[in-house]
Amino acid sequence: MAIRFSNEEFDKLKNILTTYDWGLRTLMTKLNIIHEDLRNFQDNSAIDFIHSRIKAPESIAQKLYEMGLDVTADNARKHLRDIAGIRIICPFAKDIYFLAGILRSMPDVRVVTEKDFISQPKPSGYRSYHLIMQIPVFFSGKTEDVTVEIQIRTEAMNFWATLEHKARYKFREHVPEHLSNELAVIAETISALDERMFNIYELISLINEGPSNGGINRQAKDL
Ligand code: GTP
Ligand code: MG
Repeated sequence: MAIRFSNEEFDKLKNILTTYDWGLRTLMTKLNIIHEDLRNFQDNSAIDFIHSRIKAPESIAQKLYEMGLDVTADNARKHLRDIAGIRIICPFAKDIYFLAGILRSMPDVRVVTEKDFISQPKPSGYRSYHLIMQIPVFFSGKTEDVTVEIQIRTEAMNFWATLEHKARYKFREHVPEHLSNELAVIAETISALDERMFNIYELISLINEGPSNGGINRQAKDL
């Protein structure tokens, strides 16, 4: 049976979610500015795209229930850090670390925690870089800190995580062993693929650098 908020708690939750939405939109504006600046003025393609979402009330209720907590709006605010979520997709792993550095240096946004599941993947094979950030939102006379979870990953990591998430959902967290083993192997393959794609990208960058800017001007056939 689906876990739900009571009517009274649901009304409280709606108010809380409005504040999360304001925080999320504020942070998205800042990230979109960074994206535009990188793309249009720095000739830097470190970001492919940015996606944001507010967790659905049913998912919030389910998560609180699984954590053994009462399904209340107050518990959601106190115990969940992924009510507001942002996912940044990058071409290559090195872009992920570059962006994490930019996020760390944002003057009015605080990094609460960072987890590097790229250098230390989860047993499932999951790879991504996670930051929990807090952004102050000012509204009619008071300021509230809103917590946002940011996940940064490559397209390939995202491809894997989306499929693995579907498998978990389908099997209600009890993915048959042969499937979870296969997914773990694919995660390794995907990581190797990311690396090989990056090597090609570096080769192409070398070819594009002509002698005028100090690079080597070789033909592709020489490489
Ligand atoms: P939750 O896992 O959300 O309860 O929080 P946590 O404190 O354990 O944080 P963690 O950083 O482990 O995971 C946060 C989020 O990362 C999850 O909600 C998922 O979106 C994603 N994630 C973590 N592990 C996996 C995984 O093995 N597979 C997939 N597909 N996603 C994962
Ligand atoms: Mg977890």
